[in-house]
Amino acid sequence: MYRPKVYVTREIPERGLKKILERFDAEVWPEYGPPPKKVIVEKARDVDALVTLLSDRIDAEVFNAAPKLKIVAQMAAGFDNIDVEEATRRGIYVTNTPGVLTETTADFAWALLMAIARRVVEADRYVREGKWKVSWHPSMLLGRDVYGATLGLIGAGRIGSAVARRARCFNMRILYYDIVRNPQIEKEVGAIFVDLDTLLRESDFISIHVPLTKETYRLIDAEKLKLIKKTAYLINTSRGPVIDEKALYEALKEGRLAGAALDVFEREPLPADSPLLKLDNVILAPHIASASYETRSRMAEMVAENLIAFFDGKIPPNLVNPDVVKVKPLSA
Ligand code: GLV
Repeated sequence: MYRPKVYVTREIPERGLKKILERFDAEVWPEYGPPPKKVIVEKARDVDALVTLLSDRIDAEVFNAAPKLKIVAQMAAGFDNIDVEEATRRGIYVTNTPGVLTETTADFAWALLMAIARRVVEADRYVREGKWKVSWHPSMLLGRDVYGATLGLIGAGRIGSAVARRARCFNMRILYYDIVRNPQIEKEVGAIFVDLDTLLRESDFISIHVPLTKETYRLIDAEKLKLIKKTAYLINTSRGPVIDEKALYEALKEGRLAGAALDVFEREPLPADSPLLKLDNVILAPHIASASYETRSRMAEMVAENLIAFFDGKIPPNLVNPDVVKVKPLSA
């Protein structure tokens, strides 16, 4: 029986990798860092499927080189690194791994929110750097209360809704903005649907949960940043380019906003000369919001399930471009 050829661009967790190796003729890029684009292009020449991560750019250049490519199975919820329109046009299926990382990502957004509000990372530095010289002082490292504050969610899909449920336990007033209303979250936690400007003006904490699209690119630009309260914090676990990072840096430096906690950046890894590194009122994390053992294992397993379903002649459970079926119907 023909074993479809698969190129896997990184060693993904064993639970998924094992299934892929059992069923397919698979090759795995062995290094910790991503394969250079030219390696992906080269490897794509002869494969039926690619397993990708969000740091791999999968576009027409890859597709042009890959006459046999039938499916790109991404291990991430987001897929802005893949030219899905182009894939669909060419009849290439694209899958992702949504859902499983919702609570894990919401946990991390919440951890960032709490940490920036109460200066947890700064406090750790303060102690380690030997700055703790006075046992207790009434105004040492003062932060802001989370309990009872106003939370503004930009994006109220799965992850935004999971953050809203956490906020309810903190008795927060919850505002949200999205391109569509979410009646479920209104009913469940009393979230109030507002326009973006109102959300930015009224929130004490703003947390971003939108995918990166043409519409959300730099949704938070210099003008929008001006609307945010001086005492408010911005948390981003979605995608870096949703915020104009330079404008954010200026706002933070000038004290036009209290702080930011960022897991995602315009360029990743964050360049060593990023001015954000110099600011105390910023928490920086290396794109790890979904990074728990359980979730990453399950994500890898979902990649395998998507591939196996496809090569069994079934619609993969997490198909992101359903229109592709019209271009290239499944073959059993
Ligand atoms: C991570 O950012 C993901 O999209 O899964």
